[in-house]
Amino acid sequence: MYNFQFSNPTKIVFGKGQIQNIGQEIDSSHRVLLMYGGGSIKKNGVYQQVIESLSNHDLVEFSGVEPNPSLETLSKAIELVESKGIDYILAVGGGSVIDGAKFVAAAAKFEGDDPWDILAKGAKVVSALPLSCILTLPATGTESNGNSVITKRSTQDKLPFSSPHVYPQVAILDPSVTFSLPPRQVANGVVDAFVHTIEQYLTYDVNAPVQDRFAEGLLSTLIEEGPKALSEPDNYDVRANIMWAATMALNGLIGVGVPQDWATHGIGHEITALHGLDHAQTLAIVLPSLMREKKEHKAAKLLQFGRRVWGITEGSDDAIIEQAIAKTAAFFEEMGVPTTLSGYGIEASAIDALVAQMEKHKLHAMGEHKDINPDVARRILENAA
Ligand code: NZQ
Ligand code: ZN
Repeated sequence: MYNFQFSNPTKIVFGKGQIQNIGQEIDSSHRVLLMYGGGSIKKNGVYQQVIESLSNHDLVEFSGVEPNPSLETLSKAIELVESKGIDYILAVGGGSVIDGAKFVAAAAKFEGDDPWDILAKGAKVVSALPLSCILTLPATGTESNGNSVITKRSTQDKLPFSSPHVYPQVAILDPSVTFSLPPRQVANGVVDAFVHTIEQYLTYDVNAPVQDRFAEGLLSTLIEEGPKALSEPDNYDVRANIMWAATMALNGLIGVGVPQDWATHGIGHEITALHGLDHAQTLAIVLPSLMREKKEHKAAKLLQFGRRVWGITEGSDDAIIEQAIAKTAAFFEEMGVPTTLSGYGIEASAIDALVAQMEKHKLHAMGEHKDINPDVARRILENAA
């Protein structure tokens, strides 16, 4: 196992009826920016619960943060923070709203000329406004990590940044708010959490059985509970298990001391930037093909994954690996998430432009061995056409 440091400062408040506690978690001396998305929180009662709990706080609202949040929209929130003297942000929504809030929090304290440099040039975030969140879509893990992914629409750049300063202070996770999710978003969440786990697990062995078995536990849970969330949409326990699995998949714990991949995400972000696909849809396209492309380097872990997670015991090593990949793709398809570009109406002729974007973003050394460059990514996409 590699050396590591681990700290996750986010306080998780989990369970039914917990949103009403948000007022107690945020000091009433703050002037709070309440950020949310396109309005789902007004239809499912979450907005009302938040407003009631924050009745003693000075609140300013900013709505309209869109899926795959844009610099263009968030710039308006940054102006509001400055003009209204905001000193705290509460994000209520899915990954897009929370990621957007993290960017606004960092931009508000950014001392350079252009906050986009945080993403485009890796400019260091040295401080940020404090923020908390109420999660409504289990998927990204953003509720208790320091990551954020923002899109500059004018140039079609979708880029990530990370900083310890943007961990939410408090994250409220009430699984019952996920009942109102459309099936597509339920499925997206399961696939995203599954792929986050794989990115930190399916690399090579460094003798880290704790991390391996945590990861395998999350994968098995998602495989068992994911289809149930679609077939038994009113089952609270299923929703709760998926929500907790998605948080655990990307709160840093399973990734400590082990090599990590993240090439599926790197390639996937380019597909969203150019074609507007949901984040998880892009991962479902890339991952099975990437597993086949890197079959030799990942052989030992693919075998372990096939045996322990999918329970495959019969056949040669090669047959077990091939079955494990096929079962992974079949699982995504069963969740209703197609695993090919054509499944979304994208033709193979679109691959050139995707590869050009990877060149532009200098994605020359992706994967745990830094050996996935745009040429390799081209093969991965061609085999997923
Ligand atoms: O905008 P509203 O009206 O709220 O509707 C949203 C949105 O249309 C809706 N929704 C959310 N909660 C709901 C609900 N509808 C009904 N009931 C609810 N309870 O769902 C739609 C999608 O929301 P979005 O936030 O875009 O989805 P998700 O949580 O999957 O976030 C995706 C974004 O997160 C980034 C992705 O790249 C993408 O931009 N990621 C962030 C990561 C991180 N910060 O660690 C890691 C991930 O790998 C990922 O890249
Ligand atoms: Zn993801």
